[in-house]
Amino acid sequence: MAMADKEHIAVVGAGLMGHGIAQVFAAAGHIVTVYDPDSGALMTLRERIASNLEGLGQDSSAQLRVMPVEELGECVASADLVFEAGPEDLSFKRKLFEQLQLLAPPHALLASNTSVIPITRIVQGLRSAHRAMGTHWWNPPYLVPLVEVIKAPETDPGLAQRMFDLLASVGKTPAMVEKDVAGFIGNRLQHALWREAIALVEAGVCSAETVDTVVKASFGRRLPVLGPLENADLVGTDLTLAIHRTVLPEIDSRPAPSPYLEQLVAQGRLGMKAGQGFRSWSADEQAALRARVTRHLLAMNAADAQA
Ligand SMILES: NC(=O)c1ccc[n+]([C@@H]2O[C@H](COP(=O)([O-])OP(=O)(O)OC[C@H]3O[C@@H](n4cnc5c(N)ncnc54)[C@H](O)[C@@H]3O)[C@@H](O)[C@H]2O)c1
Repeated sequence: MAMADKEHIAVVGAGLMGHGIAQVFAAAGHIVTVYDPDSGALMTLRERIASNLEGLGQDSSAQLRVMPVEELGECVASADLVFEAGPEDLSFKRKLFEQLQLLAPPHALLASNTSVIPITRIVQGLRSAHRAMGTHWWNPPYLVPLVEVIKAPETDPGLAQRMFDLLASVGKTPAMVEKDVAGFIGNRLQHALWREAIALVEAGVCSAETVDTVVKASFGRRLPVLGPLENADLVGTDLTLAIHRTVLPEIDSRPAPSPYLEQLVAQGRLGMKAGQGFRSWSADEQAALRARVTRHLLAMNAADAQA
């Protein structure tokens, strides 16, 4: 199926991810409609997008291509592609996809931005499962390049490729996930690291701050230019094997969340929003960290543009 130059994109959910996804397509010249049952989210939608674009030094008039819409049916009625970015809740997503297959045109691709839920569970029993898939964006969608495109067994490979091509055309770095596994690729890798990070603190090997220092000052430095398997080839698969023989039996492999993490949550130590999680966070420290991440992502994108 050929791709039109300008598509009608519909985004369902105008929160952190939804408004950023809308921004990416609007900045690339597409028309975007956005639905959210929260009128506050719809009311601030254009303003948030304009402020992001101004922060990036980009033309903020792209926000005029984003239309907030109060009815789901109206939002998706003439859409070529629909991106769902609502709550991370399986029953919500299942119900929504049932509605989308009736409300969106029969040719429209239907994509979920779920963080970790297998797409198969969302589209189970759907008549339109062939045009449904995952598109897992990263926060903030307009600064982090990757979008994983996840094929469920019923997904038409040609339609997944069409999504892949569209994402590439708006400047994203798409990655095709051929099998629909929980957490896809990025979050499986990320949370394998987080599991061990928590286990080290739990076992008294070091503080939470030290874990972060070790990552940021060592292999974290190389990660933007050296993936783990490139690194394994660089040091040699024989050395990798020797290391795994010694260290893998010691690494945390419990198939459930750490009791240490369960305890933090039970104690209300919910992270920055509570001022305390693994560490304590003043308002100034939180603001400094967020600013540092944004500066870093901007610098990485500027470096990519020069390369
Ligand atoms: N936050 C992240 O870093 C991140 C990254 C990748 C993927 N995701 C996934 O993206 C999705 C959205 O996450 P978010 O961080 O933007 O959440 P969010 O809470 O910021 O936004 C969710 C939005 O969905 C709206 N909503 C509630 N009920 C709805 C309904 N019935 N129909 C349509 N919209 C409804 C809410 O009003 C809210 O504006 C989740 O599935 C999440 O797991 C989040």
